Amino acid sequence: ASQTSSLEIPESTPYRENDEYADVDWDNIGFGLMPTDYMYVNKCGVGHHFGHGQLNPYGNIHLSPSAAVLNYGQGLFEGTKAYRKQNGQLLLFRPEQNALRMKRGAERMCMESPSVDQFVNALKQTALANKRWVPPPGKGSLYLRPLLIGSGAVLGLAPAPEYTFLIYASPVRNYFKEGSAPLNLYVEENFDRASRRGTGSVKTISNYAPVLMAQLRAKKNGYSDVLYLDSATKKNLEEVSSCNIFIAKGKYISTPATNGTILAGITRKSVIELARDHGYEVQERAVAVEELKEADEVFCTGTAVGVAPVGSITYQNTRMEYKTGAGTICQELYNTLLGIQTGAIQDNKGWIIEI
Ligand code: COI
Repeated sequence: ASQTSSLEIPESTPYRENDEYADVDWDNIGFGLMPTDYMYVNKCGVGHHFGHGQLNPYGNIHLSPSAAVLNYGQGLFEGTKAYRKQNGQLLLFRPEQNALRMKRGAERMCMESPSVDQFVNALKQTALANKRWVPPPGKGSLYLRPLLIGSGAVLGLAPAPEYTFLIYASPVRNYFKEGSAPLNLYVEENFDRASRRGTGSVKTISNYAPVLMAQLRAKKNGYSDVLYLDSATKKNLEEVSSCNIFIAKGKYISTPATNGTILAGITRKSVIELARDHGYEVQERAVAVEELKEADEVFCTGTAVGVAPVGSITYQNTRMEYKTGAGTICQELYNTLLGIQTGAIQDNKGWIIEI
């Protein structure tokens, strides 16, 4: 059964009813920024709750040069997608999970955060206001990017006196330049992504720029991205720069447990549940890098990435190859998840919100 939120969309929500689609070449979109009509903006002072936000035309924002987010990285982001169903309705996938993750992150980063209802309602408003930018069915989705930033000015290291919650949107399709072709990963041993008791499990903006150097090097060497190991022992898998990782062997599927250093992905959590429904034994545990040698399949999960097959992983000069394509577990889970997200498969989990 699909959910509806208790909050109504304000009547003032701009929506260009006569303009069904923006002028976009829908067959040629990747994961690049394409500015849309509106962004949602809401501000609140420290010690206060967020009130009503508003939809503004998409554009630059004004920030003090001493905003906490610019100087000390006090910021979080989220990612979720709106799909256009055959009947024209827009579908959101588990947006309350993003709201809850932002709340947890805000606590860790000492920030004020919107309530779950405010977050979900803001997503609905942003998706509806930019409806003409939601690709036709089968051609991708509208990626929604919520940000929570310390927008108030500080000089000494301290939480900002003001926070801005903002959502912008861009039509997207495949995340990797490989399109839907299998990824080739490189196991990174010179850099770590996260440390124990650090912020690896939080979607803070400060987890992402530090992975660029390893990512760029790997891309230069022909790989799609890097796979990180745990910083303490270098023996166990963690995650890829932008997504979680799964390995499959027979009916067994394993993924690193969320022990504080990996991002608690919503796609990860959903894929675990779907795989169990499909009769697989799914284990969240420490997954040794050595197990890559025995795996039948490896795949990545993430909002941006979806469920993406991994064709090879290179570890200490050895390239291991995996099954991809027709008949794989990866494809089965991808089809099921995307089917639910796009409304092609009946949602009996309450994961979909129709707007
Ligand atoms: C997402 O999958 O939505 C993310 O936030 C990852 C980002 C690096 C694109």
